Amino acid sequence: MLNVVVLVSGGGTNLQAVIDAVESGEITNVKLSGVISNNKNAYALKRAELSGIESRCVSPKDFASREEFNVKFLEAVDEMKPDLIVLAGFLVVIPPAMIEKYRNRIINIHPSLIPAFCGTGYYGLKVHEAALKRGVKVVGATVHFVDEGTDTGPIILQKAVEVCKEDTPEILQKRVMEQAEWKILPRAIHLIANGKVTVEDGIVSIEE
Ligand code: GAR
Repeated sequence: MLNVVVLVSGGGTNLQAVIDAVESGEITNVKLSGVISNNKNAYALKRAELSGIESRCVSPKDFASREEFNVKFLEAVDEMKPDLIVLAGFLVVIPPAMIEKYRNRIINIHPSLIPAFCGTGYYGLKVHEAALKRGVKVVGATVHFVDEGTDTGPIILQKAVEVCKEDTPEILQKRVMEQAEWKILPRAIHLIANGKVTVEDGIVSIEE
């Protein structure tokens, strides 16, 4: 059984997709052991509570310095004893010490086909605004391992989604979530929990 801790900042629809997939048996071998938010008002915390998952808030705003936050944040994560950490719309930079300690055991969902529309400044709706501005016809989502860079770690799964003529950033965001994010994030967790994912020289191989 893989102990999974999910880190969130907002609405938590990806967290919900993971909860639902565990409940339906689409994800096997996983216990959702905790949810941590940097934002006490995140609806994701409510979703955790409704599903009986232990949750807490650790916010940089409650500490005098980022260094102090990083230490307490790592302690909070460690206390939940994760085998896998899932960033599901988590918008705080992961402390380097956490990346080192949990190398290839932290995954992130990003709402674009990396390496397009990723890196510093590309998060949430901004990704979809940039995609529409550029006029791309295909967008999508990526699940990747987290390394020291922003959205630079080994890619696990990607799924493409078509852009439609009348799309607004909000409409496109919703389609990318429904058709890509809520499918590939649970799938990636299931594959990892069942020992199907290996990483070598920055490249992921999946035994399906
Ligand atoms: C999701 O679209 C996720 O891919 C994105 O934030 C949203 C969170 O929604 N993450 C990033 O942009 C990370 N760079 P949710 O709270 O409803 O899951």
